[in-house]
Amino acid sequence: MNLLVTGGAGYIGSHFTKAALECGHRVSIIDNLSTGNSFALDALRHLANSKGKSACINCKALFSFYRGCYGDKKLIEEIFKTNQTDAVIHLAASSLVSESLKNPEKYYQDIQLTRNLVDMMKKHSIYKLVFSSSAAVYGRPQSVPITEDSPISPVSPYGEAKAFIEKMLWEFASKNTEEDYKLNFVALRYFNACGAAADSSLGESHKPETHLIPRLLLSAADATPRCQIYGSDYPTADGTCVRDYIHVEDIASAHLQALKLLCSNTANTSDGQVSGEIINLGTGQGFSILEIIKTVGSLTGKPFEKQFFGRREGDPAILIASNKKAFDILSWSPRYTKIEDMLATAWQWHKKTGCP
Ligand SMILES: NC(=O)c1ccc[n+]([C@@H]2O[C@H](COP(=O)([O-])OP(=O)(O)OC[C@H]3O[C@@H](n4cnc5c(N)ncnc54)[C@H](O)[C@@H]3O)[C@@H](O)[C@H]2O)c1
Repeated sequence: MNLLVTGGAGYIGSHFTKAALECGHRVSIIDNLSTGNSFALDALRHLANSKGKSACINCKALFSFYRGCYGDKKLIEEIFKTNQTDAVIHLAASSLVSESLKNPEKYYQDIQLTRNLVDMMKKHSIYKLVFSSSAAVYGRPQSVPITEDSPISPVSPYGEAKAFIEKMLWEFASKNTEEDYKLNFVALRYFNACGAAADSSLGESHKPETHLIPRLLLSAADATPRCQIYGSDYPTADGTCVRDYIHVEDIASAHLQALKLLCSNTANTSDGQVSGEIINLGTGQGFSILEIIKTVGSLTGKPFEKQFFGRREGDPAILIASNKKAFDILSWSPRYTKIEDMLATAWQWHKKTGCP
């Protein structure tokens, strides 16, 4: 298939693009590089070139990159016209809860940008969309594991924007009368992505780095490795927040399964049925911040000096997914289930690259 990946230079987008290229899809990426990485694009170009050569493909490039905003209708039009896009994998977004509390407008902008993207899909009769949603739509869940029909009650503009975009996609998926267009979408609500490519060709790097695991790995190189912990009085076993960590390659494989589902779904004609699915992506296990610090400590051989601070606004105590729907509907299950194995891939990548 010809895929457009928004945010393909980012952490999850680059790992998905790698998996898609390895499966034989052609990929175009649109990314404004606001948080994306040129090292990821280099690795993907290299992979596409080697695949192109081995398959003796000389017609069209397997991989292309467009620098710009995914809500720029003119640029999207150019991409759709040039590449005969079959499906869009929409990962691009601003995605920091703490930043969204300080600068909500930046996060609400993603709603309009996504609307522009889907308008262009409609104009070009492109029906298939996989959207990166988030566990942030659940806010502070009343119980865990969280199923997809748990109340939607975001506690940050980031989560609100994701929830609103999901609603908007339902609208596009139920239109069927005057306009002969009905979107066919899967929204994947990821829990906490972690890890790096098993072959260490890609990994997680943000500037500045605010994510727990890469921060720990960066700090491991210091003479006195330190870590900051926000909140030690949560109602959890050790008082720190508990999250469901899922390996980034498992997220990528779930997207490929979602694409298969979209291809098997014939609901893109005007038959009156709504054609959307919302599915959690997690392993169904929770680990506290202190457990993650301990695991990184044993992987790196470095004990961390812990610095405790107050709770951060917008941080729920426990987020653990029910992944039954992903098993049932996507026939997907995570390959990585042990946190040590997930974090070892991240550590391997850090050791190999020094985190570019
Ligand atoms: N990382 C996680 O744990 C996690 C959890 C839940 C959901 N998500 C969602 O997954 C998606 C990818 O997250 P990530 O962790 O890879 O983040 P990331 O910041 O590494 O990647 C996002 C990419 O989108 C690009 N981008 C942002 N705004 C853009 C715009 N207007 N136009 C074009 N490109 C733009 C960035 O440059 C970057 O390359 C996001 O939608 C995020 O909300 C991530």
